[in-house]
Amino acid sequence: MKAYDLRKKYLSFFQSKGHSVIKSASLIPDNDPTVLFTTAGMHPLVPYLLGGKHPQGTRLTDVQKCIRTGDIDEVGDPVHLTFFEMLGNWSLGDYFKKEAIEFSFEFLTSKEYLGIPVEMLAVTVFAGDENAPFDEEAFNQWRSLGIPEKRIAKCAKEDNWWGPAGITGPCGPDTEMFIITDKEPCGPDCSPACDCGRYLEIWNDVFMQYNKQADGSFIPLKQKNVDTGMGLERTICVLTGKKSVYETDAFADILAKIGELCGKTYDPNDTENVRAFRIVADHTRTATMIMGDRKGVTPSNVDQGYVLRRLIRRAVRFGMELGMQEGFTAEIGKVVIEQYAEVYPELKQNEAFVLEQFKLEETRFARTLRQGEREFEKAVSRMGESKVIDGMVAFNLYATYGFPIEMTRELAREHGLTVDE
Ligand code: GLY
Repeated sequence: MKAYDLRKKYLSFFQSKGHSVIKSASLIPDNDPTVLFTTAGMHPLVPYLLGGKHPQGTRLTDVQKCIRTGDIDEVGDPVHLTFFEMLGNWSLGDYFKKEAIEFSFEFLTSKEYLGIPVEMLAVTVFAGDENAPFDEEAFNQWRSLGIPEKRIAKCAKEDNWWGPAGITGPCGPDTEMFIITDKEPCGPDCSPACDCGRYLEIWNDVFMQYNKQADGSFIPLKQKNVDTGMGLERTICVLTGKKSVYETDAFADILAKIGELCGKTYDPNDTENVRAFRIVADHTRTATMIMGDRKGVTPSNVDQGYVLRRLIRRAVRFGMELGMQEGFTAEIGKVVIEQYAEVYPELKQNEAFVLEQFKLEETRFARTLRQGEREFEKAVSRMGESKVIDGMVAFNLYATYGFPIEMTRELAREHGLTVDE
């Protein structure tokens, strides 16, 4: 299964159930100043979850571009991504739990769609707490479809609750769907609630029936909605039995281009280079998506531009580790644009802008690095016998010259020094 096939199957399945396909909204939220990026499929739909009339009806389906940078330092491991695509189907006051779960079950198990054997499926439902009761309806619905009780775990709010997208707004209990892998159970209580790796989550159906208030209370929404979320890259990874999202077709061309540019080959077992390959791939893909969005964000020191600058500069640093020459980010950006041009046509429309911004930012960063290195050498010459770079020196290199702490660490190591961080 490839990303292209999953997108197509998903949208056509929900079209056959009366859903209209809506375009991915911008990565820069239109109606929520509290966040920099669209982080989930529900984000752009909040006004409609609150009762507004959507021009395309009450049953919608989409592939939404999403960015989450909270775990940027984890990128490089097998699973973390800063950009991902979220498949979703939406009921705006139309169907609710019964139909949502029936649709999910059919898409997952029907041979025409994913064809997953029922024995390989497990689910979780909301266990209930002081704000909302145990989700008995979802529990009974899964039972009626043939999921035995022992494969339905009841979980608390940390695991089985979604939203609001900001501080207040639509939210509710969810039910989550997992593939059972051939990994042995971790113990007698091993269940989908456990993160030992035997159960891999691929989808959630959120039942948006509450509106969280500023005082922390939950009041029932007038209109009951369904919001589902299936992360495209993750699901392809699980369905194809790969160990990492970077080994799916979503990254094949990007990693091949990086390999061509640095004269190495991406190899998940190459502990020396695998992290750098993944960081360059992830960050250039995300940066391309941000700049190729219809809002035309540029690298800067504030807001979305700050995140963009950080992504490009991290990509450059790790690209340098792989031995790449200046100008490589634009080369990778071209591959990203080709790969996604059909799904997100705005990328092609903004191609010249994206490539130009990559080049300008690489040039600015090269200047920063040269200046920072000069200042580093001056600071070292003033250190005398000390083997430790003072914290204030490292701070000034960053605050005054924009020289990243990682570069200070690296130069220190080359000089046989450490940094008092
Ligand atoms: N359906 C909520 C999410 O996965 O983003």
